Amino acid sequence: MRTIVVLNQKGGVGKTSTTVNLGAALARQKQRVLLLDLDPQAHLTYSLGIMAHQLPRTMGAVLMGECGLMDVVRETADLSVVPASVALAGTEVDLAGVERRETRLKEALAGIDGYDFVLMDCPPNLGLLTLNAMVAGTELLVPVQPEFLALQSLGKLMETVGAIRAGWNPDLALTGIVLTRYQRHKKLNRETRRNIRDYFGDALLETTIRDNISLAEAPSFGQDIFTYKPRSNGAADYRNLALELLRRGAL
Ligand SMILES: Nc1ncnc2c1ncn2[C@@H]1O[C@H](COP(=O)(O)OP(=O)(O)OP(=O)(O)O)[C@@H](O)[C@H]1O
Ligand SMILES: [Mg+2]
Repeated sequence: MRTIVVLNQKGGVGKTSTTVNLGAALARQKQRVLLLDLDPQAHLTYSLGIMAHQLPRTMGAVLMGECGLMDVVRETADLSVVPASVALAGTEVDLAGVERRETRLKEALAGIDGYDFVLMDCPPNLGLLTLNAMVAGTELLVPVQPEFLALQSLGKLMETVGAIRAGWNPDLALTGIVLTRYQRHKKLNRETRRNIRDYFGDALLETTIRDNISLAEAPSFGQDIFTYKPRSNGAADYRNLALELLRRGAL
């Protein structure tokens, strides 16, 4: 079972889109996929048409030890999802005061099998929810929008990852950086790509996710890109990303 943390403390870079659509692409490659929503915004949950506010228990209850992951899992056509709700913001505050607050998710995942991939969608910060994901997972996938300061925020992220490795999870490895919302005709996009390549080498994945309006539209229909627009550039790019990740493990 590969456990992949989709992470970038910068907001709006495509973490949730990547978790949903990479998950759907892997499922179409006959992989069994579990998605975990660790963001109080619950965008992943709503993107898949799951009405979190109608559910009695979600990710927060799991982290507080009130129930197991499998008690709250929801099934879509081809994905298993542990939903979040806005209540997760309160859970993060409550977690700060409990024991083993950093290892709650790791413990919840310990008994889980029957999946090929677990993908975790993190909030845009390096707080306790993200920390739980980094302690629980073994691979990092970092979506980056190829714009000004992208490299700088990547540097900060890698510092944090180094600290997590040293203190909590020596197994955490960078599987790859994936460029999102890429626009080849923009010089800044091409330059940023080159800079990231110079700095991170092979950690920059070959697949880039192009800017594609269908990817922005799909969540409002509660659908992944393969259900919404299977012939779009977005579907082609996420399929390629899935194939690339199946070819390569963590670096
Ligand atoms: N390749 C793309 N082309 C066009 N729009 C995209 C693409 N990827 C993501 N978007 C849109 O950009 C916005 C931000 O994407 P997304 O929610 O995936 O980012 P995020 O990193 O999860 O954000 P947050 O940090 O708030 O959790 C969304 O409206 C999404 O639909
Ligand atoms: Mg998100």
